[in-house]
Amino acid sequence: MEVGWRLASHAWHQGFATEAATAALDVAFRGVGLAEIWSMTAVLNEPSQAVMRRLGMTLHGEFEHPRVEPGHPLRPHVVYRITRPAAPAPAEPAARSATSQAAESAAGPAAR
Ligand SMILES: CC(C)(COP(=O)(O)OP(=O)(O)OC[C@H]1O[C@@H](n2cnc3c(N)ncnc32)[C@H](O)[C@@H]1OP(=O)(O)O)[C@@H](O)C(=O)NCCC(=O)NCCS
Repeated sequence: MEVGWRLASHAWHQGFATEAATAALDVAFRGVGLAEIWSMTAVLNEPSQAVMRRLGMTLHGEFEHPRVEPGHPLRPHVVYRITRPAAPAPAEPAARSATSQAAESAAGPAAR
């Protein structure tokens, strides 16, 4: 499953692609429960790779895109990857405070 972006040029340089992709990853991982997300772009497309890095994606490899003719400058591609963040550990049961223990002792068993 791939995440991707394309914005009108007047919307560049304002963080919109990263913000929208962050929301999309949240849906993918916490909503749908996917294990990993990929993203690919041309080696020359540094702005797109910057979005990937801002999302916490890491470079997985390079490849020649089979649908782009050999020798074309956009043929060399990179692919980035991110895996689902580990679920937070379950919270420890809250320790009873000295005050609540004292109050329980004072109230006695009948009040419990
Ligand atoms: C790829 C593309 C979406 C990237 O757009 P972008 O504007 O560079 O990326 P973002 O929307 O995440 O914005 C990040 C920029 O906003 C700035 N920014 C401003 N306010 C921000 C905020 N509140 N939060 C985050 N970033 C913010 C960042 O500093 C960064 O600045 P920079 O561009 O000077 O480095 C855009 O270049 C594009 O649509 N290109 C054409 C289509 C394309 O190539 N798509 C990919 C095909 S694989």
